[in-house]
Amino acid sequence: MRLSVNIDHVATLRQARKGRDPEPVTAAALAELAGGHGITVHLRADRRHMQERDLYLLRETVRRTLNVEVAATPDGLAVMKAVKPDQVTLVPERPEELTTEGGLDLLGRRAEVAEYLALYREAGITVSLFINPDAASVRAAVKLRPAIVELNTAEYGAAAAGAARDAALDRVREAARLAAKGGLAVHAGHDLNYLNAGGIASVGEIVEVSIGHALVARAALTGIDAAVREMLARLNGSKEEA
Ligand code: PXP
Repeated sequence: MRLSVNIDHVATLRQARKGRDPEPVTAAALAELAGGHGITVHLRADRRHMQERDLYLLRETVRRTLNVEVAATPDGLAVMKAVKPDQVTLVPERPEELTTEGGLDLLGRRAEVAEYLALYREAGITVSLFINPDAASVRAAVKLRPAIVELNTAEYGAAAAGAARDAALDRVREAARLAAKGGLAVHAGHDLNYLNAGGIASVGEIVEVSIGHALVARAALTGIDAAVREMLARLNGSKEEA
């Protein structure tokens, strides 16, 4: 199972002060050194976390797959054509949302998605479509023939352990089977964490997961010990070093 590390929230932290720290590009390098198979960022229309500058730096430095989540808009397309990431994941975007709220509406907005799929293909950029794990969405995606579908695991992630989570996992499993049968590479993501990622890893057809919030949240906590010790050493000299 490949892991694409979503580093959006490193930029969220930086944008809290609109300064230079922490640099997402540094987080990306460390994530790759730790074995991450790729880096994912979301370029939102409001640029609330990732900035265009980040994308250019990442394009220069990411050694494995750089995947950018973006809405199907002229602005997104123009930036992607300039940056040329390895992969673009088309996602729906609502300005007020805290995070992506669901998969693409491939039934209602099929023509729009098809148009952008063709434009990205023309630009030589691999496209993934973020979709809900239901048969109608998967069938619609198979007809559009992107290289990849990313199944939305938000429902699975939100479900309490037990029958509800098992049922949500069954839906993801069935959608993955259908998508793979339709010739698409199957990825998954959203709300995966240290407690629930194992279930998704058990779905054979899913070859990659994209995880962000849980990883950056864990990194913030596990890094506190070293960060405090290093600051005490600066403040008080080597006698404070553990
Ligand atoms: N996949 C998509 C399409 C997303 O929009 C996001 C959130 O940016 C993720 C995966 C990662 O979700 P999380 O931050 O909950 O791990």
